[in-house]
Amino acid sequence: MSAAVVIAVDGAAGSGKSTLSRGLATALRLPYVNTGLMYRALAAAAIRAGVTPDDEPGLLALIERLRFTVSDAEPRELLVEGFPPQALTTAEVESTVSAVARHPRVRAWMRDRQRAIGATGAVMEGRDIALVVFPDARVKLFLRAAANSRSLRRASERDTHDPAAIAEAMRARDERDARTNVLEPAPGSIVLDTDELGIRATLETALEIVHDAWPESDA
Ligand code: DC
Repeated sequence: MSAAVVIAVDGAAGSGKSTLSRGLATALRLPYVNTGLMYRALAAAAIRAGVTPDDEPGLLALIERLRFTVSDAEPRELLVEGFPPQALTTAEVESTVSAVARHPRVRAWMRDRQRAIGATGAVMEGRDIALVVFPDARVKLFLRAAANSRSLRRASERDTHDPAAIAEAMRARDERDARTNVLEPAPGSIVLDTDELGIRATLETALEIVHDAWPESDA
């Protein structure tokens, strides 16, 4: 099996990227790299250290201390040392992360780390993977879903009793995120509508697309 195949999965928050990416990574035995976690970790580190999201030099000093690893258990997945997954999905991180992610030097640093992590092959989830990080990815998928179903999905992931607050937080974050990453499919991307297909058919369709583009994969 070729080791250096990258599958890019881009799309808005709550569009089903993580579910699909984890499913693909498991089926293809590739590491699952959620690049949103890298930006979230920087936001959490900034909150912890009292660095404001506008302070690019302060963020760049913190970024050097982040340690990313890939777990051993299948599916192997990106982890951030010192930041358990639940520390990366707090409301405070969610309201800060877009402001942290908008700085060009932060993005350049993340892009270089993402290229290094994906160099041996990965299913990589994010916003700019097909456009910026791996424009030569073997397969580029772009997920679409309606705002309503995205916020319902996010509310069930977060186990919340206030879905209206989740919907409002998501709308505000969409607006901030759109200033950094234009949420349109990159050239060569295949668009999947996760509302239309549902979880299982999205994975099946994506696996067919991967198989066409990478016939020697053993999925
Ligand atoms: O996918 P997510 O919700 O975990 O992303 C968290 C934040 O990071 C979101 O505000 C967008 C930003 N992000 C980004 O700018 N580029 C990426 N490749 C991934 C995430």
